[in-house]
Amino acid sequence: MSIGERDPFTGHQTTGHEWNGIKELNTPVPKPVWFFLISTAIFALVWTLLMPSWPYGTGYFKGLLGIDQKAVVSRSLVQGSAERAQWKARVEKGDWAQIQADDDLMRKIREDGRTLFGDNCAACHGTGAKGNKGFPNIAQSPMLWGDVPQIVEQTVRVGINGTDPDTRVSQMLAFGRDGTVTREQVSLLAGYVQSLSDTALITEHTKDSIASGKELFVTNCVACHGDNAKGSVDTGAPDLTDPYWIYGGDRADIYESIYSGRQGHMPSWSQRLTPVDIKIITLYVLDLRRKSMEAGAGG
Ligand code: HEC
Ligand code: HEC
Repeated sequence: MSIGERDPFTGHQTTGHEWNGIKELNTPVPKPVWFFLISTAIFALVWTLLMPSWPYGTGYFKGLLGIDQKAVVSRSLVQGSAERAQWKARVEKGDWAQIQADDDLMRKIREDGRTLFGDNCAACHGTGAKGNKGFPNIAQSPMLWGDVPQIVEQTVRVGINGTDPDTRVSQMLAFGRDGTVTREQVSLLAGYVQSLSDTALITEHTKDSIASGKELFVTNCVACHGDNAKGSVDTGAPDLTDPYWIYGGDRADIYESIYSGRQGHMPSWSQRLTPVDIKIITLYVLDLRRKSMEAGAGG
């Protein structure tokens, strides 16, 4: 046995084992490795004692600290819904201007309103509420029925040509199809209507036909769209002088609106959403409008 023999190359002791002239060096596991092995083992032991760990027949060892993630989650859910009920009650009772001036409440409304809007309204009005063909841009365009909060809330509640007994009724008549005016007159009207928002269309060449269109407009259309074609919140007739169109501002779209009429359908939400959710959505939409107008004003 040659225990204690020192290997001349590495300086380590050898174990005394030798195979075919190859000697085994005595290099024990380094101390830091022992340290980590032992300390993680101790930690694991302590942890399984403190926390829920070992399963047995009908249950599991609950741990000395008694921590239960399920209870933590359900406690936070209860707390969450209590908080929700509390701020919703403030929305329900609050006066519109008061709520709009309350930053804390408006933050919650923006969050909750975005979800409600996404679930119920975005399919037609688009995620940013900027509309699609046939569905108005409620983030920016002047409101058909007015943008006083109570009015918007009512529009959402009762709908337009909807199923609620108090629904708003919006009727753009089919002037061409019903024979109130001829096809040629529909063209003249469309030319005049288009020139209201695009004055570049008024040229030496077109000004006479646009003037004839205007005469027809005065006879047939001002009752609903107003003397200056700026629309009316009493009939829900849109402003025809602004750049926003529900059904499109091409000559062909305008012709079609006048020839075949339009009856947009906005569902009544009174049966599908709670009054407070309707109020939250209304505040959310009005907040979007305020933001997009500020953005517009800023350039
Ligand atoms: C099925 C499609 C559809 C859905 C869903 C829908 N809307 Fe509408 N909404 C319309 C249409 C169409 C109009 C325009 C009706 C018209 O042209 O007279 C409208 C009009 C409106 C108006 C009136 C705009 C104005 O200028 O006065 C508001 C406000 C409005 N919607 C809000 C909402 C909100 C909030 C929701 C979700 C709760 C919603 N809408 C869901 C189709 C829809
Ligand atoms: C009985 C009331 C009424 C009369 C009269 C009326 N309109 Fe309308 N008009 C409406 C309403 C309401 C709408 C919106 C319909 C909708 O959104 O579903 C509308 C929509 C339109 C649109 C579509 C606007 C857009 O944003 O896409 C055009 C164009 C239009 N009217 C032109 C005319 C012209 C031209 C006349 C006269 C020949 C006329 N209207 C007469 C009520 C009327």
